[in-house]
Amino acid sequence: MLDKKVAELLNAQINKELYSAYIYLEMADYYSDEGLGGFENWFYIQTQEERDHAMLFRAYLLNNGEKVTLDTIEKPGKSYDNFRAPLETALEHERYVTSLINAIYDAAYSVKDFRTMQFLDWFVKEQCEEEKNTDDLIKRFDLFGSDAKGLYMLDSELGARVYSAPSLTL
Ligand code: FEO
Repeated sequence: MLDKKVAELLNAQINKELYSAYIYLEMADYYSDEGLGGFENWFYIQTQEERDHAMLFRAYLLNNGEKVTLDTIEKPGKSYDNFRAPLETALEHERYVTSLINAIYDAAYSVKDFRTMQFLDWFVKEQCEEEKNTDDLIKRFDLFGSDAKGLYMLDSELGARVYSAPSLTL
């Protein structure tokens, strides 16, 4: 059995990760509408990764004898009026997710739940990568995105991104 607060936060994170998947799916749809299939691909892979994250939290709870309670997923409902806007929202969102992971870690640390801390270590590292990848994308967009040829090249590069399942298995 896990500490009640730790279990509640882990359960809530399933919802947050699925919401993240939803946000990224909306961004993929936006870029698809705009004819930028590479950006669409990049964000669709983000969606797949967020779904994976949700399933990892689910599996961890079940493996520890906890019940999973699924809640309503918030509607993303954002609209974007330029190609850079989803990138900014994505970075802001990843920073928010980092704060959530840190809060769970903090709760686990306060009750000496070493098992959960070890489980979360992967997510701490993952959040560092997620923030960096999104920040790098913004930088490259700022360098090349304002020129049609540069945008085409960047879109082609993003189109080559391939999904790979998370390295963490439970
Ligand atoms: Fe599941 Fe992008 O954090």
